[in-house]
Amino acid sequence: MLRFGLDQSISQEKRIEKQNEGTQMNFQKMAKRIKKGETDRFFFTNEAREEIARLSTDEIQSRLQGFMKSPMIRKGSSDMQLSRLYHILCWIEVLKELSISKNATLIEIAPGAGTHIVTAFDVISGGKGKYVAFNLNKKLTSDFKTQTQDLNLDIRIIEDDAKNTPAYIPKETIDIVAGNHAINDILETIIANREGLDTVEGDYFEVAPRLIREYEKAYLDGTLKNLVFDDFTDIMRAVYSTLKPTGYLVLNYYVYPVEIDWGGSVLVRSAFVSLARQWISEADLGFETVSLDGFDPKWWGFFRKY
Ligand SMILES: C[S@@+](CC[C@H](N)C(=O)[O-])C[C@H]1O[C@@H](n2cnc3c(N)ncnc32)[C@H](O)[C@@H]1O
Repeated sequence: MLRFGLDQSISQEKRIEKQNEGTQMNFQKMAKRIKKGETDRFFFTNEAREEIARLSTDEIQSRLQGFMKSPMIRKGSSDMQLSRLYHILCWIEVLKELSISKNATLIEIAPGAGTHIVTAFDVISGGKGKYVAFNLNKKLTSDFKTQTQDLNLDIRIIEDDAKNTPAYIPKETIDIVAGNHAINDILETIIANREGLDTVEGDYFEVAPRLIREYEKAYLDGTLKNLVFDDFTDIMRAVYSTLKPTGYLVLNYYVYPVEIDWGGSVLVRSAFVSLARQWISEADLGFETVSLDGFDPKWWGFFRKY
């Protein structure tokens, strides 16, 4: 169920308990759906599908629960596959709960080669929706194109900064703007731009550890907000202008173990969604915060244009 605000009528403890209950039910439901083969078409390879088919429903559920830990617990390649399914199912649920219609238009910010949102939107819209992505890194855009070539959606990828959205997209034409594990990339790219680091032409994952360390340093020495606030809120303002009245912005984040290996800390990286929420509210862009049962506000930010 969609709720307006962060339900301040109950204590934070109760709210977290309630979210956990919802999440728990989701895990059971999801594990059953995966075991039944309902998600088989999302696998990239037959080997991956067979690997997951060998797991019991309980094992799948317990692994899904590991993804809620911070950092996520992922053991080997089968968990990589399972976490992909998990996030696709989460986005399907989100799009359904927000009543995104079959012929909707969705903008994704900074997908890189990630296909969680585009796959979920393909399902929800029955291949009839319009999907637009803003992505800067060229190699990841090319990988994204390869991985989405079999989808039925109308897909357009704009290789530009999301802050330039209004130059490509008419005002008030978009139903939902979404970013999967993208707040981190957006903020780190802002810092990289200020320091003259290339994130567009080269291999993104070669520079990623440096981006994480620079972000960590700025957060811990208290300079982060000064460095990123204006550029971040400019991007949010830009996408806001493209949203239809009462359109949604949804941003999530979860801590990948590799981000910790690359020099990030759980403490700093767990703050992305709450920082985004704080700064979007402070910039007074015209978004109100909403929440969805079963989606932990620590990892999911839902905003509605008003
Ligand atoms: C690691 S990938 C993203 C992975 C993806 N979000 C996922 O599903 O995990 C990072 C991508 O974000 C892009 N990016 C960062 N800031 C951006 C911005 N302001 N506009 C467009 N793309 C951006 C980078 O160029 C890169 O392609």
